Amino acid sequence: MLAGQTSRYIYLQLKDFKESRRKDPLMSPMAANLSKKDMFDLAAYYAAQKPINQNSKGDVSKAARGKQVADAALCTMCHLGGLSGQNEVPRVADSTYEYVLKQLKDFKTKTRTNDAGNMTAVLRTIPDEDLESAGGVYCIPELKVQGSSAEGPSNNKEQKLPNDMHPFPIPPQPPISKE
Ligand code: HEC
Repeated sequence: MLAGQTSRYIYLQLKDFKESRRKDPLMSPMAANLSKKDMFDLAAYYAAQKPINQNSKGDVSKAARGKQVADAALCTMCHLGGLSGQNEVPRVADSTYEYVLKQLKDFKTKTRTNDAGNMTAVLRTIPDEDLESAGGVYCIPELKVQGSSAEGPSNNKEQKLPNDMHPFPIPPQPPISKE
């Protein structure tokens, strides 16, 4: 999901695809030819859009377990309440369940490695059978935890991360043009 992510996160992901730190059969070739300015412009454009809930369907019986797992793993420490995102920590709320589950599995198995180890470290503590619950609780409307909302606060907050834990160099921020 792109709408509502911070421009910084979108820019970093495009750059990671372009420079092969993140790989995907569709995205990698698309990003390969983008200039730095293209990536700034795309990031600003999508960051300015309002996220829409994808209405994923999931197993409601996993909601309670999902909340337990997510609370224990302190997901909100980095992603903020309802996983609305900040800086280079993405918004997870309102993404599709299938996408979130794939990302969690990919981080865990180190298929996706552009997280500077943050997600891999978190997921090491979560057994595979709990990944579905942990991911679902933030993107399936019936499972929603408090604070996760398509109309939630704009997540374009540029706050300091806990303990400055994120080692990514922060690229200069392009001005976000309002249309
Ligand atoms: C220590 C901080 C931290 C914690 C705790 C954390 N995350 Fe993350 N997460 C990140 C960062 C940083 C990224 C972005 C990595 C990148 O740049 O690709 C990320 C990425 C993700 C993504 C990929 C999103 C996308 O749009 O591709 C998902 C899904 C996710 N996290 C879910 C979770 C869940 C669920 C939990 C709790 C079980 C959690 N995270 C806990 C830091 C954290």
